[in-house]
Amino acid sequence: MTSLNSAAAGPLLGTVALPGDKSISHRALLLGALAVGETVIDGLLEGEDVLNTVAAIRKLGAVAERDASGTWRVQGVGIGGLREPESVIDFGNSGTGARLLLGVLAGHPITAFLTGDDSLCSRPMNRVANPMAEFGAKIVSRRGGRLPLAITGAVDPVPITYRLPVASAQVKSAVLLAGLNAPGHTTVIEPEPTRDHTELMLRHFGADIEITQGADGAAHIRLTGQPELSGMPVVVPGDPSSAAFPAVAALISKGSEITLTGVGMNPRRTGVFETLMEMGADISRKNERTEAGEPVADLLVRAGSLHGVEVPGERAPRMIDEYPVLAMAAAVAKGDTVMRGIGELRVKESDRLAALAKGLADCGVVVEEGEDSLVVRGCGGPAPGGGMVATALDHRIAMSFLVFGAACKKPVSVDDAGPIDTSFPDFVGLMNGLGAKIGPGQDAG
Ligand code: S3P
Repeated sequence: MTSLNSAAAGPLLGTVALPGDKSISHRALLLGALAVGETVIDGLLEGEDVLNTVAAIRKLGAVAERDASGTWRVQGVGIGGLREPESVIDFGNSGTGARLLLGVLAGHPITAFLTGDDSLCSRPMNRVANPMAEFGAKIVSRRGGRLPLAITGAVDPVPITYRLPVASAQVKSAVLLAGLNAPGHTTVIEPEPTRDHTELMLRHFGADIEITQGADGAAHIRLTGQPELSGMPVVVPGDPSSAAFPAVAALISKGSEITLTGVGMNPRRTGVFETLMEMGADISRKNERTEAGEPVADLLVRAGSLHGVEVPGERAPRMIDEYPVLAMAAAVAKGDTVMRGIGELRVKESDRLAALAKGLADCGVVVEEGEDSLVVRGCGGPAPGGGMVATALDHRIAMSFLVFGAACKKPVSVDDAGPIDTSFPDFVGLMNGLGAKIGPGQDAG
């Protein structure tokens, strides 16, 4: 385990580009593998999670190669053309990779074995396994639908209509991906909007997706099965979830002014920036443009004082991965920040509600942890700090508390920075380049 330590720094200054969007990177690889012809991907996130998806599609018969300039080329096998993998597919820490691939596999008459690290093997998979069974796939898993599991895809998948029981883009995506090899229409009914990268990219590759609104306001996303997907160019925007870390660090470090270039601004992902602006943050969008069907902008972020807010529960799906770093901003804001309707945080890479409550309390911040809520009592300025935070195999817990150290009186340590490589490989270099003071922790030798 690599421990790291983050101390109060001077202002953060400079301009940086973010690593590629993790969600879009996984999808580009999977659709590239299912398309006919070549998919050329620029800006692919080369974090461990996405590299595990590269390894998975290779085991299934697709070709994926990186050239010296960092462009990836995938030669797909066509829908239904994947071959049975000869060994276990290990997704490491990646819930997105595992769940989306289950969707792909459900429509292929082959058997595959999936596993992951201790974090992934503790996460619920029945939310995907259940609709896959409706398509005709067979899944044998550990108790509670946990990995490792085996899946044998359906020989003749039947199209389904599936109403999402949880607001989950991963479940929605798995159903749509399984529907690709089913004749007729597969429909996902989505009561609360979640990220729509799968829908956008399926259209980009040539699939027919129709979205209508039901009487109850839910979206009905209807895919026409067995399309011919053609290999396409994909430009992956910078990950807004990764951008949130330097953005919050700049907001809470006096005198900071940074520019984050090429950040994905899909409205289903930008809830954190809206919330921060409601807290008084000075964030402005420059140079707004569209790249490969996704809105992109440069973000100019300036430090200033923040105040607590109540985050509307219905915003949760649009900022689900950003609550950890938002909680850090809340801890230095003036007044209480109330976050409700966030029970899903308990089944992420770690139980994030518990990890945040414990880590903040260990840094001298008053918090109230509910079953699906978190209230953070802001310190109205620098927080005490001084905690040693357990990251529990969770990249976002590690990065959040390293950001927090910038605005604490005593340095903040994390016990294991290793998981950061799953989504943000050069996090420490990028942050220190802006002026942060993140260095080896006590165990460094
Ligand atoms: C993701 C969806 C979200 C998110 C995860 C990535 C995706 O999970 O937390 O980091 O790429 O579809 P859920 O769909 O389970 O909420």
